[in-house]
Amino acid sequence: MASHEVVEKNIGLMAILIVIVISIGGLVEIVPLFFTVSTTEAAEGVEPYGPLELAGRDIYVSEGCYNCHSQMIRPFRAETERYGHYSLSGEYVYDRPFQWGSKRTGPDLARVGGRYTDEWHRAHLMNPRDVVPQSNMPGFPWLAEREVDVDSVITRMEVQQEWLGVPYSDEQIEQARAKLEGKTQMDAMIAYLQGLGVEVGRQAGQQGR
Ligand code: HEC
Repeated sequence: MASHEVVEKNIGLMAILIVIVISIGGLVEIVPLFFTVSTTEAAEGVEPYGPLELAGRDIYVSEGCYNCHSQMIRPFRAETERYGHYSLSGEYVYDRPFQWGSKRTGPDLARVGGRYTDEWHRAHLMNPRDVVPQSNMPGFPWLAEREVDVDSVITRMEVQQEWLGVPYSDEQIEQARAKLEGKTQMDAMIAYLQGLGVEVGRQAGQQGR
């Protein structure tokens, strides 16, 4: 009892002990994840982003789409009935940073790929109310006027290949310029959206609605 009293009367000591206890709890939870295959290796069929998709992903981040859209389907029936197969950690291995988010002003987008046509996305991103009259999503018409920054996308592919272990082949990086030249940010955004979650969704037979 006496030793406990020492801790209770000494806030500095208590703070240090609290940090130690919480650290142990954190290490026990977090460290094994670095060694678990299902959390560190790509789920079956999941490939690194192609150049146009990668460009779209960066625009998704810079336009702040994550402020209204999550990309993480939780394993609950209400979610899987609406959005498709729940998200797997192996689907996010090439996402740096991931776009899970927690704000759902709009629907989850983790499996939006293939749900609509490219034309639908184009119309929707120009002015959402043209296709969803009650929508309160803002339009992003400037995406159609801006071109993709080709060099920066190629640099990012090279960095991912060299430093982050993303399995891009040299050919993929060489061919990236041809795939990006003349493309608008709108093209890139649509390519990104159309690729979201399709691999695992297709395998689970839940592609589309
Ligand atoms: C202010 C909040 C907000 C922002 C920011 C926002 N959205 Fe939305 N989004 C919504 C809402 C609300 C809906 C549902 C109504 C609709 O379909 O327009 C929606 C719907 C969508 C859908 C259709 C999803 C489905 O399953 O029907 C897509 C795709 C989409 N948004 C993409 C984007 C992209 C890409 C961006 C960034 C460029 C973005 N959104 C930014 C609120 C937002």
